[in-house]
Amino acid sequence: MRTTTTMTPIIRIFLGLGLLVTIVLGSPLPHSAIPEYFQHAPVTRGQLSVSQVQQELGSQLSKGSLIIGPDDPEWANVTKRYSTFSKPQDLKLVVKVNAESDVPKVVKYCNKNSINFMANNQGHGFTTTITKLSGIEINLSQLTNIKIQPNKKSAWFQGGTWGGNIIKTLWDQGFVTTTGSNECVGLMGPALGGGFGRYQGLYGLVSDNFVTLNVVLGDGRNLQVSKTSYPDLFWALKGAGHNFAIVTSAELNIYPRKIDTWHYHNYAWTQDKLETIFETLNRVQGNGTTPAKLAVNFGQVSLDPSYSKTEAIIGWTFAYMGSAAEGEMLLQPFNEIPALQSVQGDVSYEELLQVQGTGASDPTACSSSPLVGSSGLLQTWNVTSQREIYNLFNKKAVEQPDLAANARVFYECYSTLKTQAIDAASSAYPHRDEYLVYFFATVTPPGKEDQAHEWASQVRNLFNDSEPNRRVATYVNYATGDESLESIYGYEPWRLQKLRALKAKYDPKNAFRYYNPIIPA
Ligand SMILES: Cc1cc2nc3c(=O)[nH]c(=O)nc-3n(C[C@H](O)[C@H](O)[C@H](O)COP(=O)(O)OP(=O)(O)OC[C@H]3O[C@@H](n4cnc5c(N)ncnc54)[C@H](O)[C@@H]3O)c2cc1C
Ligand SMILES: *[C@@H]1O[C@H](CO)[C@@H](O)[C@H](O)[C@H]1NC(C)=O
Ligand SMILES: *[C@@H]1O[C@H](CO)[C@@H](O)[C@H](O)[C@H]1NC(C)=O
Ligand SMILES: *[C@@H]1O[C@H](CO)[C@@H](O)[C@H](O)[C@H]1NC(C)=O
Ligand SMILES: *[C@@H]1O[C@H](CO)[C@@H](O)[C@H](O)[C@H]1NC(C)=O
Ligand SMILES: *[C@@H]1O[C@H](CO)[C@@H](O)[C@H](O)[C@H]1NC(C)=O
Repeated sequence: MRTTTTMTPIIRIFLGLGLLVTIVLGSPLPHSAIPEYFQHAPVTRGQLSVSQVQQELGSQLSKGSLIIGPDDPEWANVTKRYSTFSKPQDLKLVVKVNAESDVPKVVKYCNKNSINFMANNQGHGFTTTITKLSGIEINLSQLTNIKIQPNKKSAWFQGGTWGGNIIKTLWDQGFVTTTGSNECVGLMGPALGGGFGRYQGLYGLVSDNFVTLNVVLGDGRNLQVSKTSYPDLFWALKGAGHNFAIVTSAELNIYPRKIDTWHYHNYAWTQDKLETIFETLNRVQGNGTTPAKLAVNFGQVSLDPSYSKTEAIIGWTFAYMGSAAEGEMLLQPFNEIPALQSVQGDVSYEELLQVQGTGASDPTACSSSPLVGSSGLLQTWNVTSQREIYNLFNKKAVEQPDLAANARVFYECYSTLKTQAIDAASSAYPHRDEYLVYFFATVTPPGKEDQAHEWASQVRNLFNDSEPNRRVATYVNYATGDESLESIYGYEPWRLQKLRALKAKYDPKNAFRYYNPIIPA
């Protein structure tokens, strides 16, 4: 049943012994079946059943909304997550809203009935804190409207918009904005934690581009938030936002796209080049001085069985916002490192996502698998440490071939010129003095979880030791769930103090506590 094209809202209810019943809202059945007092129950209803929620709440929601329970054929799709290890342990049902105005209704209904809830979108959040949810997911993925404002300086994006649809929609009309780099990742998931992407060297983090946010608080209240309206909440939403509200729509700055093509250059190198590669990277990116137009480079250490099952390859992809001639001038030092493979081209922004391995067609970008990982933020690549991390990879390839087969160490360097230029105290994002990102992930075969966690933690320790004079720093959106709050939200004591005070003010019941929460569940 393809319900998105249906004119009337449909609730599919699974009754007792396997009878699938579809109720079309607007028919008298669900309304007349609910005793009045149930609709206004002020206290916990311990025995509330899935079908009761479907009936009571469904009748309040807009056309096209769906309430999906575990026995629905759509369940697997609507609960699909990038990492299967981040699924809520006890998910009762998913409410797929079809209008922004549905969100406060769901939240109020949940509160009235003591049901826990969490909003989500594209399912790429991979922290294990999500598993703590026992309750309802509010899936925003149908809220995909994008509206460019008449002055062409900003646009409104609904809470379910995502990388691919934003990039294409704006590019085709001559604009760009800050989003995550990946086609399949939501806008607000990244943005509420800062938001890294290819335009950050020029325009800052995604959250640096917030103009106005329409939010729903934990008690169901709607607020419009900006630098002049609830400015303290606005501050918190820029970096620690998952703890504070559901964003139903956001106004962000947009910019003329300026270029017709991006230049990319992808390399594959053998391990004997490792030291040269990282020394060259450190020279090109200095200490947080990567030119803004050399928007991003991603690297990856992984096995390619067509080359070897025990000796990992080093792959790197560079994206330059402009012509090949300009881009290749900056990349010349890399062209001098003899490569197994070297491929370059000039493509639209949309195509760039594909050639950099960040598009929907990429097996690692938009898939779903049992992932164990670790991550962190850094200032420079320590060449000695990179050799140790690489050698460990090859050792695992021999000792744990099934674990290593789909493992990778991932390196990210965005230009950070603009993010550094913005006052760090002006938002909850605490890591403007970190310029590099690493991420380790293994697709974990059954029974290999302990070994996967051991490897992930070894990698994290090696990266941590690589900067002996700095403290561990974690990007909230790459945190896997076991990091310290200080490493995520900042070591300056005033940051967590301020965030906790704002929690008391705006989310005193800690409704938002499933995404690397400031106040744990
Ligand atoms: C393959 C991959 C690529 C990535 N690339 C980038 C990148 O380029 N830049 C970057 O910064 N991060 C990136 N990330 C990390 C990303 O920021 C997080 O995984 C983020 O949580 C994904 O958002 P989502 O909507 O896809 O996931 P979901 O799991 O649906 O949402 C994650 C969380 O975000 C919150 N949330 C989502 N939408 C809303 C909303 N409208 N209102 C309130 N809360 C909301 C909820 O707390 C939810 O639990 C990447 C992750 C993966 C797996
Ligand atoms: C799940 O999603 C896929 C891809 O969008 C679709 O082809 C499939 O029909 C969906 N399954 C169900 C049961 O709706
Ligand atoms: C929300 O629903 C969409 C469409 O069914 C699905 O692709 C997405 O993974 C869902 N989000 C979550 C977090 O399950
Ligand atoms: C990088 O710059 C920061 C900020 O100026 C400084 O604290 C740090 O020591 C520098 N690191 C290196 C390796 O030069
Ligand atoms: C990180 O490394 C430093 C220096 O090597 C060490 O003092 C610190 O305890 C480590 N922190 C973590 C969280 O591993
Ligand atoms: C690089 O890492 C090693 C540990 O692997 C450490 O001893 C060394 O001091 C680091 N070098 C720099 C320049 O930080």
